[in-house]
Amino acid sequence: MAGHTSGCSGFNFLDQPALPAPQVSEQQAAELLASRYGSRGTVKSLGSQQDCNFLVFEDGAPAAVLKIANPAFTDTELSAQDAAAELIARAEPELRVATPLPTSGGEPPGAPACPVASLAHVRLLPYLAGGTLTERGYLSPAVVAAMGDLAGRVSLALSGFSHPGLDRILQWDLRYGNDVVTELISHVPRRGEEIQAAALQAWSRIAPLADELPRQAVHLDLTDANLVAGASVLPDGIIDFGDLSDTWAVSELAITLSSVLGHPGSDPTSILPGIKAFHAMRPLHPAEAKVLWPLLVLRAAVLIVSGAQQAELDPDNAYVTEHSDDEWRMFAQATSVPMDVMTALIVTELGLAPAAPEVQIEGRLISGLDPETVVTLDLSDTFTLDGEDALAAAAVRDGAALVITRFGRPRLSLAPLLSANSPAVVETGIGLWSASTTRVLAPWDGEVVQRSDDRITLRGLDFELTLTGVESSTAPGHVQAGEHLGVIGQGRWTQLAVRPTGAPVAPQFTTAELAPGWLALCRDPRAVLGLDELTDEPQRDLLERRDDSFAKVQERYYRDPPQIERGHRHYLMSTAGRVYLDMVNNVTVLGHAHPRVADAASAQLRRLNTNSRFNYSAVVEFSERIAATLPAELDTVFLVNSGSEASDLAIRLATAATGCRDVIAVREAYHGWTYATDAVSTSTADNPNALATRPDWVHTVESPNSFRGKYRGAEAHRYATEAVTQIEELSAKGCPPAAFICEPVYGNAGGMALPDGYLQQVYAAVRAAGGLAIADEVQVGYGRLGQWFWGFPQQQVVPDIVSVAKATGNGYPLGAVITTRAIADAFRSQGYFFSSTGGSPLSCVIGLTVLDVLRDEGLQDNALRVGEYLKTRLLALRDKHPIVGTVHGMGLYLGVELIRDATTLEPATEETIAICERMLELGVIIQPTGDHQNILKTKPPLCIDIAGADFYVDTLDRVLSEGF
Ligand SMILES: Cc1ncc(COP(=O)(O)O)c(C=O)c1O
Repeated sequence: MAGHTSGCSGFNFLDQPALPAPQVSEQQAAELLASRYGSRGTVKSLGSQQDCNFLVFEDGAPAAVLKIANPAFTDTELSAQDAAAELIARAEPELRVATPLPTSGGEPPGAPACPVASLAHVRLLPYLAGGTLTERGYLSPAVVAAMGDLAGRVSLALSGFSHPGLDRILQWDLRYGNDVVTELISHVPRRGEEIQAAALQAWSRIAPLADELPRQAVHLDLTDANLVAGASVLPDGIIDFGDLSDTWAVSELAITLSSVLGHPGSDPTSILPGIKAFHAMRPLHPAEAKVLWPLLVLRAAVLIVSGAQQAELDPDNAYVTEHSDDEWRMFAQATSVPMDVMTALIVTELGLAPAAPEVQIEGRLISGLDPETVVTLDLSDTFTLDGEDALAAAAVRDGAALVITRFGRPRLSLAPLLSANSPAVVETGIGLWSASTTRVLAPWDGEVVQRSDDRITLRGLDFELTLTGVESSTAPGHVQAGEHLGVIGQGRWTQLAVRPTGAPVAPQFTTAELAPGWLALCRDPRAVLGLDELTDEPQRDLLERRDDSFAKVQERYYRDPPQIERGHRHYLMSTAGRVYLDMVNNVTVLGHAHPRVADAASAQLRRLNTNSRFNYSAVVEFSERIAATLPAELDTVFLVNSGSEASDLAIRLATAATGCRDVIAVREAYHGWTYATDAVSTSTADNPNALATRPDWVHTVESPNSFRGKYRGAEAHRYATEAVTQIEELSAKGCPPAAFICEPVYGNAGGMALPDGYLQQVYAAVRAAGGLAIADEVQVGYGRLGQWFWGFPQQQVVPDIVSVAKATGNGYPLGAVITTRAIADAFRSQGYFFSSTGGSPLSCVIGLTVLDVLRDEGLQDNALRVGEYLKTRLLALRDKHPIVGTVHGMGLYLGVELIRDATTLEPATEETIAICERMLELGVIIQPTGDHQNILKTKPPLCIDIAGADFYVDTLDRVLSEGF
């Protein structure tokens, strides 16, 4: 037992371990409210384990909480709680703190008898609007960080607080956690031994450090149930000071974080943002960091035994029974990773880990090994479809005697392509691949403690090693340094792991999240091979460097983005060993790193790359091939480098051909970043000031958004009528348009089809006024729509000028403008047209290869087939989750529009961002689009298969069900 338990002036759990909640009816509570506070509000009972709480409604809205404390607590204890609440409220004015409201004065005559021992036990607290975090499903890293930050602030505010009412012993005080578990374990019907063993193991880590743990006043119950979030998703309010005690300061954090583990989607490492935030606010001492995880395990055990006891005492207390599942989940999480690993992880992540002693050897594992003949593979960077065997065999062919992998690095080749969980890919030892059969010898004196046919462990005084995949007949017993241990075969992997003697045996691979914990308990085995440790040059954080060298206006995806250095088909791979399903890269139509594109580019770069004023075949062939995909009259091709250039040139062609200068564009659209394309772009998501800053030659018509625009559903035909009138008025004013520019399928609005007949009517009006029709096919063209290669046939029109890019080069810069011979010839009036790299042999060869692969791999058909399947599945989510307003689009250009209200269509903008962040954690890359940033732009590479589509929809379904 820790500390002294006698002589405590307040409540002492150890003397009085059974504490049923006071029995007060709603009727009695209403009478108390009226007599003591003069309030006529109605009351509704709220759950509590040991107190009795009522929500008070005034005018139908929650206004206050009437709290009747358990009579076992003294008046002094309650006054300490009120004082602490007031202290925090003063110290942290931005926090909302429930401090007691004043009574209305003396008891009115004839007041009903008080149903509780002392009126001092009755308090009225303001109701903090919002909800507690218990009502949330998944708690995001940002929320967990805010919880840690809040606990840190409370801890700081209470650090100097002293009061006689703090002298009490509650069952929640973790100094007595092990005693509480022992006392109450008999109430747990099943798995009692498991709980007791976990509590005991935790206590064995805590007790030796107990004297080093600072003590102070602690709220002791800052859990999800007592943290309130108002306007923001982040908590900003604190309630319930009933457990306030003087105890170990670090208990505050342990208790806060334990509640995170009860939430769906959490795992032990989910608490790290909370620890870091607390540490930033109120630095943890090394001893506190070491006991944090054991305290958390102990807390989970205490909650289970206490809940079980309370359920027996108070079988009708719904609060107790409802929380039992969360508590078991918390316990399962808390015991799912060895305690020492979590502690090592926390200590390492906080930078509090002491330097690890170096591995000392008395002889080498492989005698006579020349370090020059050892090749180290870093499999985080060298993922190939052939895998690591092929890479190792290639290194041997090039002369390596031994190929080894890198300690602590992810092996990307082992990462599953579709996985919601972070896969176990980080090596806790190294792999050995030998060019010939090789004997391995003991690097130190020790005991062979474990041996099977292919595994041997040699335990020395300070370090032990395990070889797996080794042939060994060495009997258990003492072995001297230099003696034979076994033989490693030729051309296959043997695993070698080294750790301090007695450290837990690490799995061969662990997750990127747990890796710092496991690696702190392992050692780089290079030392036993006589090789120097590989140390990477310390690198500044890549994002910091990016921010320093890259303009801020060049935004990036995600708050905390993974470092993506490789791609494959519809997957992207991070340096941490995760593979993501890529639902957003419409540029790479064929998929990432397509070998045919890579081979074609490489061959052409070795042959010729010059400009299109030279006469070479690729520019002709590509121009012929792209023109052949279009109606016959669109036969003349200009080659440029991007979509902005293409649409810019389209505008210039139109002004040259018509002699007019005015251009009409639809609102909410994006056409590029050049001067002219920016001028016709009015998407407020891209430029919030877009509508106010148009040059006078740009005229915009209403955004033809049939879902949330001015005219919806059956009324959507009015957009065309209105646009036609505007065009006619413009001509009548003496400014007939040179062009009307529009995406033929409304990409920026999530791939929404334009209203039927829209382009037919508007093109006719523009042409009648002497202008030209430009179709910006940069996003929607090139097979993505499935049924159509280009977007304009969907509207049954033929434009005068088509601009295209993105897909044309599968990510290589290549754009094109295709028009009629007459329009192209009219451009002569502006001199000549030349782009140094537009239409280069390299870009044309890539362009030809993209067209070949689209055809050979049937990708347009795939877009149709997988796209229809995907849309059907996404639409089914609409019936299940009210936030899904609709699904726009066709083929593999889809948009899932998220709303807060089916009637007002209020866009769910913040939710969409949070959903994208959570989808990333679960292995899917998806981003918002649209002026309200509330549409999931669903436009993956066209090679995506049904499994990929299912993974996307299942993950979205999970996120919408579980919370984000
Ligand atoms: C419809 C449309 N047009 C033009 C562009 C500009 O293309 P780029 O980024 O290749 O310059 C974009 C880019 O997103 C686009 O979506």
